[in-house]
Amino acid sequence: MTTATKTAPKASTLWLLSNIRKMTQNPIPIFYRNIEKYGDFFNLGMLGKTVFVLNQPAYLQHVLKKNHRNYTKTDIQTEKLAKYIGKGLLTSEGDYWLRQRRLIQPGFHRAKLAGLANIILEEINGSYAEFDAYCESGETFDICDIMMHTTFKIVARSLFGAEISEEELNRIGEVIITTQKHFVRKIRQPFITPWLHLSGQEAAITKLVNDSDDIIFNAIEKRKSIGGEHNDLLDMLLSTRYEDTGKGMTEKQLRDEILILFVAGHETTANAMSWIMYLLDQHPEINAKVLAEVNKLLEGKTELAFEDVKGLSYTKQVINEAMRLYPPAWATDRLALGDDEIGGYPIKKGDSLFLFIYGVHHHPDYWPNPEQFNPDRFAPGNLSPEQKNAYLPFGGGPRLCIGNNFALMEMQFLVAKLVKRYQFKVLPNQVIEAQPLVTLRPRYGIKVKAAFRK
Ligand code: HEM
Repeated sequence: MTTATKTAPKASTLWLLSNIRKMTQNPIPIFYRNIEKYGDFFNLGMLGKTVFVLNQPAYLQHVLKKNHRNYTKTDIQTEKLAKYIGKGLLTSEGDYWLRQRRLIQPGFHRAKLAGLANIILEEINGSYAEFDAYCESGETFDICDIMMHTTFKIVARSLFGAEISEEELNRIGEVIITTQKHFVRKIRQPFITPWLHLSGQEAAITKLVNDSDDIIFNAIEKRKSIGGEHNDLLDMLLSTRYEDTGKGMTEKQLRDEILILFVAGHETTANAMSWIMYLLDQHPEINAKVLAEVNKLLEGKTELAFEDVKGLSYTKQVINEAMRLYPPAWATDRLALGDDEIGGYPIKKGDSLFLFIYGVHHHPDYWPNPEQFNPDRFAPGNLSPEQKNAYLPFGGGPRLCIGNNFALMEMQFLVAKLVKRYQFKVLPNQVIEAQPLVTLRPRYGIKVKAAFRK
């Protein structure tokens, strides 16, 4: 029985239709215009479809956590995406998802992360060649591009160790980028689907994915034949066993989970890193505090280690605050499986809910001076319980990002090591603007110059 008493305001369809172009370019201002007019719960749906936009922490927590059983991911996030990247943690639902989550979760526990720390540190050292070349040539470059390959390689090595060559890695990278573009195009312009089939583009994508499958299957075979302990994610995926059957995953399941970790595990981190480097440039006093923290940790040694993650506490505050301002996963959505009530508004089975994470992170009721970059908000003891609820960069509830601790450690190391070795200068006279695509990224990139730190 529902006790809902309110009626959700409905955004004007005429206004929406006249702003459809702006909406596809950047929906965030469109949401804000409606939030100002209608408040933190309104219906943005058109043509009889209900899409509630939610902009209150309690509403998001209700959907993700408190009553999560009543909500499911949409078919875009599951079947449609699974067609390309397979059925794994990110793209499955129900019993299958729960079984996979239970199986894979232990691989991301803190103790396991210790084994991955060295791989991450080595891979960051490997990225120096590219940065060093820019320091030497004085050339301008886009920090977003370099972050994208660096985080891709970090995930790849954490997954496969040495079982995959540089060339094979680049091939998988290309396949992921091309497939993602194809998928986003299909979702945004569903009417072109028949043409994609007729023109052979759909078949070309299937062939590409098959090529990357071959690489992944070969790497699995190679690892199985070598055996031994490698302390990477592939070891974890190969050794884990279902509680009920005592058996491991099939090759197909392994391939799906691997591809999903690739996809979920690099673009989000790359975008977060790009925004962090931008914010540090804009706030030299904060950059200096990060550098002081790293220098202190490195007294008497030349390399960081897993044990230093705790010591990089100010660096973590910087990362947390940057993800508040620029949450890489800026929104997510869910479908109601049954009737419910949120904040006094009735929800009907089949309604879509759009969870506006970006809006909650900038909500003035919870964040004083919300647009200000202030890492002290995240200093120990400073966050109120209400603010903790209003902070969801990794989602929440049972489907909380499985890679959250991995991502945080990776970013702490990246920020610390890059700030220690280089001085970056963001070039003036460029437009830096957030573009909310699948993830929130800088629309025109961020052009920088780098120099070795003296
Ligand atoms: C800054 C970096 C990252 C951010 C902001 C982020 C954010 C998120 C969010 C918001 C979700 C939940 C989506 C939803 O509920 O609709 C999610 C899920 C997921 N993330 Fe991350 N993520 C990051 C890094 C990573 C990394 C490094 C990995 C793996 C190595 C990873 C793997 C996953 C997986 C597998 C899921 C699906 C979990 C499930 O549904 O059980 N993520 N991530």
